[in-house]
Amino acid sequence: MIGLRAELALIAVAIASAAMAQGSTTDEIAKYRAALQDGNPAELWEIRGEALWKEPRGPKHASLEGCDLGLGPGVVKGAYAGLPRYFADTDRVLDLESRLVGCMVKLQGFTEAEAQKNPFGNGNAARSDLEALTAYVTSESRGVKMNVPMRHPKEIEAYRVGEKIFYYRGGTHDFACATCHGDEGKRIRLQDLPNLVTTEGAQKAYTTWPAYRVSQGELRSFEWRLYDCFRQQRFPELVYGSEAAIALTMFLAHNANGAPFAAPAIKR
Ligand code: HEC
Repeated sequence: MIGLRAELALIAVAIASAAMAQGSTTDEIAKYRAALQDGNPAELWEIRGEALWKEPRGPKHASLEGCDLGLGPGVVKGAYAGLPRYFADTDRVLDLESRLVGCMVKLQGFTEAEAQKNPFGNGNAARSDLEALTAYVTSESRGVKMNVPMRHPKEIEAYRVGEKIFYYRGGTHDFACATCHGDEGKRIRLQDLPNLVTTEGAQKAYTTWPAYRVSQGELRSFEWRLYDCFRQQRFPELVYGSEAAIALTMFLAHNANGAPFAAPAIKR
């Protein structure tokens, strides 16, 4: 009799902890993420990116220090918090990555193909210069409030196109970005799916990329994040620096306005 009672008590405890597991898994992941913030290897990419920015390179043997990221030639501090934006010299809206490629072509004499070759790198064999440059430039906006402009007609157009793509359903699974990112509390396995249609959700997501991804041992840029979500959505491969990539970035970056930029961050 005593044995049976003890067993029933054990079963009751087991049921209670199973019910709690759902909530506490998310809490535990949040704790794990917080613990990772100390000592972020992204710094190594930032340092390499700064060196690349200052080093004379390419056929013209020039550095990128004359590159105008929107706040004037050579101004890096705070520039990322105002991107994407319209650039009069190219008559296009550009995000950081496409602007960097443009500067590598114009100032350093690389061809466009050379400048954006292997943009996400290839492991230890070939680390991506663009990812390092992105890490450096974005780190110079840490703590700066997001203030992506929407004045020029092409900026407004890019935002609208990005919004359209975000809600556009297609592909083998008839998914849109909004299918996975348009509600609170969704999850795939252990990954929370952030709700990107609220201001708070867009701010939290956008201001924490680029990120060092522990699971990959790599620093990843926002373009990579979009590229990988296109894959998850079973969409055709997202072309680096394409109008679609820039438009989606414009949509999410502008929705993040007002929040302090907080990357390169570190993620699972
Ligand atoms: C099939 C589901 C799915 C679709 C469709 C999808 N994503 Fe994602 N998305 C994910 C997953 C899973 C993660 C990673 C969550 C993690 O690692 O914690 C993610 C992460 C993100 C993040 C980073 C959030 C953060 O806080 O780090 C952004 C931004 C994002 N997606 C944008 C998009 C955009 C834009 C689209 C449409 C082109 C899209 N996603 C389509 C599943 C999806």
